Amino acid sequence: MKHIRTDLADFDIRFMAFMKEVRSVEGIINFTYGEPFQNTPDSIKQAALEALNENRTKYPLPLGLPELKQAILKRYQERYGVSYSEQEIVITTGASQSLADTLLALVEPGDEVIGLEPCFILYEPMVTIAHGTYVGVDTSKDGFQIVKETIVASVTSKTKAIILTSPNNPTGISFTAASLQALAEIALEYGIFLICDDIYDQIVFHPIASLVEYPEIRDHLIILQSFSKSYSMTGWRLGYAIAPEKVMKAIGNVQLVMQSGVSTFIQYAGLEALNYDNTSFVDDYRRNADAIALMLADIGLPFHKPDGAFYVYPDVSEFGLSSWDFCLRALHDYKVALIPGSCFSSHNDRFFRISFVCSPEELKEGMHRLSHFVDDLRKERSL
Ligand SMILES: Cc1ncc(COP(=O)(O)O)c(C=O)c1O
Repeated sequence: MKHIRTDLADFDIRFMAFMKEVRSVEGIINFTYGEPFQNTPDSIKQAALEALNENRTKYPLPLGLPELKQAILKRYQERYGVSYSEQEIVITTGASQSLADTLLALVEPGDEVIGLEPCFILYEPMVTIAHGTYVGVDTSKDGFQIVKETIVASVTSKTKAIILTSPNNPTGISFTAASLQALAEIALEYGIFLICDDIYDQIVFHPIASLVEYPEIRDHLIILQSFSKSYSMTGWRLGYAIAPEKVMKAIGNVQLVMQSGVSTFIQYAGLEALNYDNTSFVDDYRRNADAIALMLADIGLPFHKPDGAFYVYPDVSEFGLSSWDFCLRALHDYKVALIPGSCFSSHNDRFFRISFVCSPEELKEGMHRLSHFVDDLRKERSL
């Protein structure tokens, strides 16, 4: 009997294990969701229904609907003044697949890919599937920003790419222009790719800097995007990747061979989504971000106020507990579900993620439970 890939069979996705625990407890306030709570807007659903009624149900064009690709590129032109051709974009089933296509296209066995930790839970396993070596670099000691020397210390001759998300999951913090400048310099000096997972860039509470604005790194930049978070379309599985033509040729070939394209009626929904003004969604998250900042300050846990997305990442090092134990106790004894920081980074264990995609009432109740827990922990420690 031949062996299977044990590196895949033995994946330990800590997040999944914690979510199993969360599902086993009743009566919780759930701060673990990484998806919008609003329904997909009616205009978007209507566009899909119309496309279905027009029988747009045959095999799709593997690299995407030309109208959708052109509409997306027009937006990049208007927003950033950058121009990409239709040969430089591919429509995918979400940013997850954009990332998988990209890694399979770029990574050769033994190549290293840097993740700026804490970061999205799937980066490490995806690099592994692509036969690469994942290298996590801790940004927490630099205020979740980029210090060039810290990153350079982890760059080797095998480094192929750095993956980044801004605003980030799990912190909600965006990279400053100085951080992006440092990454741009590293990309140019070491000839490596920057894989920019921009899935939250339309959920921001104030304007943020973007690597798309650095024309000098155009040949190094791969942009990953998704309709999931911006338009509350997580279940539609729609996203895209943009990259310079030569790189896109390889990414597109992975997409063509492995996926054969995205359902056409879903791409029509995406086309309509581009006309949707998601300001009211962002306003909901901003309101919760403001409220949670006040409540966390009141509880007295250190945190950075989020710049966007719907996450905040408080520091619980004062209790001397692992983030896993902290969150387990919060879940079982106080019925508030949080995600341990150890799910997003193997370099430090001082944080937990709160996802504030919920009603103001749930937010208040969940934070009340957290406050109660923290009070009890402080009392225990002072005994
Ligand atoms: C940073 C980041 N990238 C990618 C994804 C996956 O996005 P999609 O739904 O488009 O596959 C997520 C989902 O939570 C995410 O947080």
